[in-house]
Amino acid sequence: MAEDRPLSWGRHYLMCRPEHFRVDYAINPWMDTTSPVDHDLVLAQWDGLVEAIERAGATVERIRQNPETPDMVYAMNYGIVDGDHVALTNFRYEQRRPEAEAAEWWFGELGFRTSRIADARVGSFEAGDAFLVGDSLLVAAGPRTDLATHDVLAETFGVRVASVAIVHPALYHLDLSFCPLDETRAIVAPSAWDAEGWRTVQALVPDPLVITEQEAFTFCANSVVVGNVVVMPSGAPTRVVRALEAWGFDVELVDVSELHKGGGSIRCMTLPLDTNLDAARLSAAAERWPTALAG
Ligand code: ARG
Repeated sequence: MAEDRPLSWGRHYLMCRPEHFRVDYAINPWMDTTSPVDHDLVLAQWDGLVEAIERAGATVERIRQNPETPDMVYAMNYGIVDGDHVALTNFRYEQRRPEAEAAEWWFGELGFRTSRIADARVGSFEAGDAFLVGDSLLVAAGPRTDLATHDVLAETFGVRVASVAIVHPALYHLDLSFCPLDETRAIVAPSAWDAEGWRTVQALVPDPLVITEQEAFTFCANSVVVGNVVVMPSGAPTRVVRALEAWGFDVELVDVSELHKGGGSIRCMTLPLDTNLDAARLSAAAERWPTALAG
């Protein structure tokens, strides 16, 4: 059932082993610089996550962590991949900016074309705020991404951008309140958004699995979906797991509690490398030039 219309992406990821993970600064409400990180446990949990993702059928590439950037484990934020092009993040906080440079180098070495979505003039854009949903790019405006970057994204990729305003400081990235499951379903936490944002999501997702704010605080929306397997942080509410199973998904629970100290979970640690916006581009073009294409 869940495999009826699986996502077109999600089988190839870039991840960063947290050799130098620390909570040195607090740029989101989850981070507490006085709470120590158990280095061995963090590495064991991350290795367990990679195994679970590979077991689910995905391939994982690795980038080495720069010792100066303790948050680099949250690879989802480096940028958006579109075929052989990667549009790199312009991080809100300077502590994370060198991560985009490291990612730029990594992608360049692999032959990707790299570009920057935003700069100081338009503001910041972080890739944890964007998902391909149907034929639109759903992008948040809020704590980490400025609304002015949405036009730049639409132009750069030639796609339709649907904007959703994040108004919840603890659900500061879209990937904490939104998890695409397949072509019609997603986990959604509307308490993260304003009323108009929720309407926008409803128009894009025919079958939402709605979770409460408290449920979102378990990071259950910060999961990775590989075909019909949902790799989800342990601690996820049983109700949510059961609802996914009723839809035909297999749920793999993985303990990444040590990584939650940085304010991120499984999705945050994985940058999808197999996203391609061609179909979205075609549909946006058809909208602009209906007669020419009908031709
Ligand atoms: N400490 C990181 C930050 O605040 C966590 C990033 C979580 N990543 C994510 N995609 N939500 O930027």
